[in-house]
Amino acid sequence: MALGIQLLLIFQALLPLTLPEQSFCTEEDGGWRLSPYSAVQEEEQCTVDKVDSSISYAEFLKQYAYKRPVILKGITDNSEFRSLCTKQNLLQEYGDRLVRLSTANTYSYEKLDVSFRQYVEHLLKPQDVNTLGNDTLYFFGDNNITEWGLLFDKYTPPPFKIPGTSGAYSFGIAGSGTGVPFHWHGPGYSEVIYGRKRWFLYPPDKTPEFNPNRTTLSWLLDTYPFLPEEDRPIECTIRPGEALYFPDRWWHATLNLDTSVFISTFLG
Ligand SMILES: *[C@@H]1O[C@H](CO)[C@@H](O)[C@H](O)[C@H]1NC(C)=O
Ligand SMILES: *[C@@H]1O[C@H](CO)[C@@H](O)[C@H](O)[C@H]1NC(C)=O
Ligand SMILES: *[C@@H]1O[C@H](CO)[C@@H](O)[C@H](O)[C@H]1NC(C)=O
Repeated sequence: MALGIQLLLIFQALLPLTLPEQSFCTEEDGGWRLSPYSAVQEEEQCTVDKVDSSISYAEFLKQYAYKRPVILKGITDNSEFRSLCTKQNLLQEYGDRLVRLSTANTYSYEKLDVSFRQYVEHLLKPQDVNTLGNDTLYFFGDNNITEWGLLFDKYTPPPFKIPGTSGAYSFGIAGSGTGVPFHWHGPGYSEVIYGRKRWFLYPPDKTPEFNPNRTTLSWLLDTYPFLPEEDRPIECTIRPGEALYFPDRWWHATLNLDTSVFISTFLG
């Protein structure tokens, strides 16, 4: 009897410690085991404006659409889409489909087709800091819309359109420490479904100092620390529930701080 009560007390004492951790793992990482990249942290200070769902479309057009990046917080609910993007579900639905991998350098994109399962089980891993961009393969974009369309139908993009453009999705999954080096194109949005993604941005008239053959990770470790204050990028880390908007022709580079599942909406 006394032993039973003692066990009960021990059990109760353990409960608050163990339960939240377990639910964190199953709900928050979708089975992707986020494994943060230890060498890289979030920025000291986020310098991208953040707004919540109270911003009006008119205000977005006036303040941001053609002027500067912004992070829209909690503006859509993608919990259903998120639940479809667990590792288990995606492997079950797409494991045998071919996905087209791209290299992570700025100008020449080599492509390689592998099964989604092979990518997830063998190629999805943290970035090696010494590997060049052209030797780093990862899954972003090049989605076969016929095959991925049913999943994309469940995604709700940010509601604010840029007049005269329509959206095209780019979906991907990549290991911690991976990312696309500096480049630019038309405007768009980027969201993470699982994991965190750190963003570096420069306005169109300020070409960043970078080697297009090297990864974002090597730029962050070798170049970024030595940039004078006035040459620092605008930067921020986004998390699930936040959508980063980048205007037309803004330079940007990305770095996945964890294994990340992400989707971009390119407005062209
Ligand atoms: C990547 O680039 C390096 C140097 O530019 C080169 O030596 C290497 O062969 C390239 N790798 C591939 C797979 O093209
Ligand atoms: C996309 O998937 C469909 C159905 O599996 C296939 O018939 C088609 O060839 C694929 N398209 C490309 C460009 O791979
Ligand atoms: C990047 O790689 C390409 C092809 O290997 C090479 O021609 C070019 O000089 C390299 N650029 C830099 C800045 O290293």
